[in-house]
Amino acid sequence: MVEDVDLDEPKAGEVLVKIGAAGVCRSDRHFMHGDANIALPAVLGHEGAGTVEKVGPGVTLTKPGDQVILSFVPACGRCKSCLEGNSNLCDLHMATGPFMLDGTTRLHKGGKDIHHMGKVACFAEYAVVPETGCIPTNSGISMDKAAMIGCCVPTGVGATMFSAKVQPGSTVAVVGCGGVGLNVIMGAKLLNASQIIAVDIRESQLEFAMKFGATHSVNAADRDPVAQVKELTGGRGADYTFEVFGSAETVKASYDMCAKSGTVTVVGIAPMGAEASINAVDLVRNEKTLRGTYYGSARGRTDMPTMVDLYLSGRLNLDDLVVRHYSLDQINEAYGDMDEGEVGRGAIMF
Ligand code: APR
Ligand code: ZN
Repeated sequence: MVEDVDLDEPKAGEVLVKIGAAGVCRSDRHFMHGDANIALPAVLGHEGAGTVEKVGPGVTLTKPGDQVILSFVPACGRCKSCLEGNSNLCDLHMATGPFMLDGTTRLHKGGKDIHHMGKVACFAEYAVVPETGCIPTNSGISMDKAAMIGCCVPTGVGATMFSAKVQPGSTVAVVGCGGVGLNVIMGAKLLNASQIIAVDIRESQLEFAMKFGATHSVNAADRDPVAQVKELTGGRGADYTFEVFGSAETVKASYDMCAKSGTVTVVGIAPMGAEASINAVDLVRNEKTLRGTYYGSARGRTDMPTMVDLYLSGRLNLDDLVVRHYSLDQINEAYGDMDEGEVGRGAIMF
């Protein structure tokens, strides 16, 4: 529902951003469907970029006029997770969730507080965000590409680079080839995987995945995807498998199609309470590694500018990734297109 709400001035350490573009990501869909929890009412949108309009007291990380990519995990730099180099898991951010870092909101309507998804809430013309959630680029890249670097790029490319650490010459299978999965494919290509198998239930997504570096495709709707991936890898399975949809079934399939001594990386967020069963003996006997990754284990402040450079040097194909543009009024149409299985990523433009 598109409606007017009140937005406070930025407080100390906060920034008012005029949103330029916001990506249409499945994570917002999870909240809309109740598959994930967020305090309501809330303004969604967590994949965004814009221009700093105004800064609150004490802000030093950015200034008015900066082009910024928004991070949905503003990292405090002081907690145990940040100090250990896992700023994507910042303890202070996790403890305050959809509130600002002081535990209050800047969004209101009729005396009621409205929550901020990921402290970003960029399905709106303006957002107040923590300064630590603003990553200045000033690269002049178009806002839709910058927005992608706020979520699907670090999540997908980061999963290959920082979480799984895909080795050159290895084989990779990617289960789910939407906006995030295509970035996993691009990451695997960048890291010189020898074989990149795209797995999806839609032929259109599989065809599209070839543009981003997939070397083979497996239609999971036709026949057991585990058997098909094994056939393509000489019976072994893939060295690295990535789950990029978010269901117990696809987590299990990603585990089962992983080779001996391989790594299974779960990127997708399954509905709350989902449990995937794996063969406990196989885990040991085949020395598999099963891990999750949040925000691609990327450190936004340093890794997002790197992703901008990778795009600018032609090694990340974001130009083909963003295929649809909408106005904010068309947001339901945008999510309808995702449900219909349209390929690539959509972006709301402001
Ligand atoms: N097997 C393989 N692929 C599947 C299956 C399945 N059983 N079911 C759905 N898919 C495919 C869809 O056809 C689609 O191409 O998974 C893809 C999901 O893509 P998007 O809807 O674009 O979702 P995306 O935004 O990429 O997010 C994927 O990552 O960050 C998380 O919360 C996000 O859980 C979500 C996941
Ligand atoms: Zn997202």
